Amino acid sequence: MIKTLEWTPEGVRFIDQTKLPAEEVYVTCRSYQEVGRAIREMVVRGAPAIGVAAAMGIALGIKQSRAKDSQSLRLEIDQIGQTIADTRPTAVNLFWAIRRMKEKFESVAGQSIEQIKAALVREAQQMYLEDIAANEAMGRHGATLMPSAGGVLTHCNAGALATCGYGTALGVVRAAVDAGKKIHVFADETRPFLQGARLTAWELMKDGIQTTVIADNMAGAMMRQGKIKAVIVGADRIAANGDVANKIGTYGVAVLAKEHSIPFYVAAPWSTVDLNTHTGDEIPIEQRSPEEVTHHGGKQIAPDGVLVENPAFDVTPNKYVTAIVTERGIARAPYSESLKELAPASVVSA
Ligand code: MRU
Repeated sequence: MIKTLEWTPEGVRFIDQTKLPAEEVYVTCRSYQEVGRAIREMVVRGAPAIGVAAAMGIALGIKQSRAKDSQSLRLEIDQIGQTIADTRPTAVNLFWAIRRMKEKFESVAGQSIEQIKAALVREAQQMYLEDIAANEAMGRHGATLMPSAGGVLTHCNAGALATCGYGTALGVVRAAVDAGKKIHVFADETRPFLQGARLTAWELMKDGIQTTVIADNMAGAMMRQGKIKAVIVGADRIAANGDVANKIGTYGVAVLAKEHSIPFYVAAPWSTVDLNTHTGDEIPIEQRSPEEVTHHGGKQIAPDGVLVENPAFDVTPNKYVTAIVTERGIARAPYSESLKELAPASVVSA
């Protein structure tokens, strides 16, 4: 399995996703600040991966702390958590992971400093393992929704590279292929950061899964020609009513899918579901730098000084979503009921 991220004695090790597919290089972040930078600069990206990266960043920061008592450690965890929270605002997994690490801290705060540090490292490692297990469970549920043969369109990268391994949307594809389904993936290139062309194609080809990269503006034509039997994407945050924030361009794909009567599926771990966010309108959308749009491969492709919009995500209203696949099962409309039914008892807040 591709090692997207990994806890090591030296720090948190990442495959550098800004360099793929041309170069397969790994970087080790030796401080929580470096982990924060890796998240912000998208060395590591994808909602579940940045969640676990955040947890490992906190564990690393606390492990290196010189604090002598748990009250000082608590202040440090708050400050480290804030630094990491300030990196990217949309994927709720980041905030879920920070909260879980703080809760872990509180549960062991009475122990010795060394025991607290060890507990936080173990918690981050546990989250890593749970993420892979969740993806495998999602794969088992979601594979039943995939066509027995034909094209499946995906947008961005919701694969092993976006998680601790196996993937969410691509985990579903992997499980379906393993079950004998003859799936051919169409990967939207995903302007402007090209996660589809660079990352989805790279990891699916490594697994021998048939993949065709298309420019984003080709999806409608492919659907009209009958080449796409289903769409499956990941998510960065799913609101309580089933509205889905995902990579910019997902909304357009969902509308096109509905027009062509093609099912549009979302696969995401429970850590992406945010029952405290009531609708998609409340989801903060990250704005990234104009250079991602005006430049391509280091070359300028738009005039100097042109106005640019570069939202990293959009929101797909729940009416376009055929089903949401989680490790806890499959939710269908009305999502405000089905998501609550799937939720663990401890998180039902509304
Ligand atoms: O900006 P990115 O590359 O972090 O955006 C990633 C996505 O939008 C993914 O589809 C989403 O995080 C789900 S990953 C399993």
